[in-house]
Amino acid sequence: AARAAEVRAITESSRSLRGPLLPILHTVVERFGYVSDDDIPMIADVLNLSRADVHGVVSFYHDFRRTPAPSHTVTLCRAEACQSVGAGALYAATAERFSEDSGVEVGEVFCLGNCALGPAGMIDGRLHGRLSSDRIEALGEGWTR
Ligand code: FES
Repeated sequence: AARAAEVRAITESSRSLRGPLLPILHTVVERFGYVSDDDIPMIADVLNLSRADVHGVVSFYHDFRRTPAPSHTVTLCRAEACQSVGAGALYAATAERFSEDSGVEVGEVFCLGNCALGPAGMIDGRLHGRLSSDRIEALGEGWTR
């Protein structure tokens, strides 16, 4: 409810801007990290827009996250050199290991420049080589209960 009041206040204070929607969404993301399902009808209401209009803008711009930012990220290389040493299977296993609401976001990238040490990946922003499910598990110890 505190969030709702704050989002309403943000929206109301920007209502008179020309093209208020993007600045409002940016402020909401800066403040809360994402645009929630409840924010959309409220913003639409204050600006006199349809929910579909607001929803359309939120989904068009990738900077507007729709869910809280993950606590941890595992980004695995899927390019050729890493593929040849099992990156595909490792990615599949990792994506399965960390389900959507685990707080761990699994992503992919094409070459991290660490090709000699594949499968390569970034774990919470740090580069690692020769990754395996076991190593990811060890590096992420304590992430999920
Ligand atoms: Fe994976 Fe280059 S191919 S780091």
